[in-house]
Amino acid sequence: MSSLPSASTTGRHPTDRTLRRYAVHGTGHRAAMYINAMLHDFPGLAEPVAWCDPNETRMHHYSALARAAGRTPAHYHPDQLEAMLRRERVDVLIVCSPDHTHAEAVSTALRAGVDVVCEKPLTTDVAGLRRIDEAAAASGARLTVTFNYRYSPRNTALKQVIADGTIGTVLSVHFEWLLDTVHGADYFRRWHRQKASSGGLAVHKATHHFDLVNWWLDEVPETVHALGGLRFYGDHGAGRPAGPRPVLGRDATPDDPYGFDMSGDDHLRGLYLDAEAEDGYLRDRDVFDQGIDIEDTLSVLVGYRGGASMTYALTAHSPWEGYRVSVNGTRGRAELEVVERAHVASGAASDVLAWRTDDVTDDVTDASRGRSPRPAVDPSVAPGTDGAARGARVNGSRLIVQQHWNVAQEIPVAETDGGHGGGDALLLTDVFRGPGTDPLHRQAAYRDGLRSVAVGIAVNRSLVTGQPVRISDLGLSRD
Ligand SMILES: NC(=O)c1ccc[n+]([C@@H]2O[C@H](COP(=O)([O-])OP(=O)(O)OC[C@H]3O[C@@H](n4cnc5c(N)ncnc54)[C@H](O)[C@@H]3O)[C@@H](O)[C@H]2O)c1
Repeated sequence: MSSLPSASTTGRHPTDRTLRRYAVHGTGHRAAMYINAMLHDFPGLAEPVAWCDPNETRMHHYSALARAAGRTPAHYHPDQLEAMLRRERVDVLIVCSPDHTHAEAVSTALRAGVDVVCEKPLTTDVAGLRRIDEAAAASGARLTVTFNYRYSPRNTALKQVIADGTIGTVLSVHFEWLLDTVHGADYFRRWHRQKASSGGLAVHKATHHFDLVNWWLDEVPETVHALGGLRFYGDHGAGRPAGPRPVLGRDATPDDPYGFDMSGDDHLRGLYLDAEAEDGYLRDRDVFDQGIDIEDTLSVLVGYRGGASMTYALTAHSPWEGYRVSVNGTRGRAELEVVERAHVASGAASDVLAWRTDDVTDDVTDASRGRSPRPAVDPSVAPGTDGAARGARVNGSRLIVQQHWNVAQEIPVAETDGGHGGGDALLLTDVFRGPGTDPLHRQAAYRDGLRSVAVGIAVNRSLVTGQPVRISDLGLSRD
């Protein structure tokens, strides 16, 4: 019995160039990338007909943008999701709501025969995976999981090196992901800080990384063993500055590097500050608060069906942001090092940079702090904006391949402007135009979403039991 579902959705690809009717589930920060693309980049292919969100203010925020582009999407509460899909004759539902709500939205849409484009992670737990799997099996609709990291030219280049056989059969991978004390800290401010909402960083964040390895190696994960904890943030965290903490980031003193003030930015103010009164969603809670139950430090061992193994580490409190991956094969080794942000400024006026409101294509985390705006964006959407020439570390990517008995070679990586080295634009083209024939299979289907989340869920189980977990023991199979 296979440990993971093997059914595949079929459904029509949007390659016939007809105008399709889209609805967005969750009109928060991430929705901006899709809504802007529909309004401005793919108007002949994508008609935004409805938003579905419990918060009217956030829906209005995007409806104002839509109206400026001549569109008038209808507003629905999540309780009315089925009715919305029917009444608005929705062809595709884009799911950008918090992670724990994905299973409900995805399965409802699939059962209604509506195609789904789901933000990562597909879901947060085994119950959600089973729910989606059952709906997918009963549906002819198509489910796409938007793993934008696959589209980053540097990650695609490593895939190409492995697929070409340059380093032979992969035997092991060492993968370290570093989030800095601006971007990493941001996961500890709002719903992500609760495992029940996000699955923790093993699911919410590492789903990207586990998917990359599954895809790079064309492999299926089988066993997982994890150690980790909340060590830096939280009320007992080692990183907690001395003295009392503000309840909200907006009330921090100007020299507090963990302060977070959204008032100076129209987009963040419109999405969060102006919307607070309606549902009490506070975007800027202190990262050294009580009640945070996710990890900020993870070490993971993964075994794959074909015999390869991976050591993986995630640190959410690093002084620089980026990643290092080394892949050892029978013919040689590939090493990718990416520095997305060489350092974060301490908050002193000389170091601050204005954040760009057009950089709303990824993990938020941007804000201004009082009169001293800081570059709190996920640095992968604005490479090179910070610290490039200061200190020993420089922003950029380097892919080096070395075969046995040969000198090392650097493989050029063609990055362009825009989120993830131009990867987000490629992803959006795949979503709205259809992927065409891609020999690297970058467009991820629901099975890819399941496989990466399954590793994160196994990490969570291993953290509780202290034991290795076989993914087949998670009981994900339908048969
Ligand atoms: N691929 C990436 O790089 C990337 C980057 C950022 C976010 N994301 C994903 O996008 C999703 C949203 O993240 P975000 O940062 O925009 O969060 P957010 O909090 O800014 O927005 C979430 C929105 O969902 C709404 N919502 C809450 N419950 C809902 C429900 N039951 N039904 C419908 N809407 C509901 C909220 O009111 C809010 O408007 C998450 O799944 C996250 O993992 C992916």
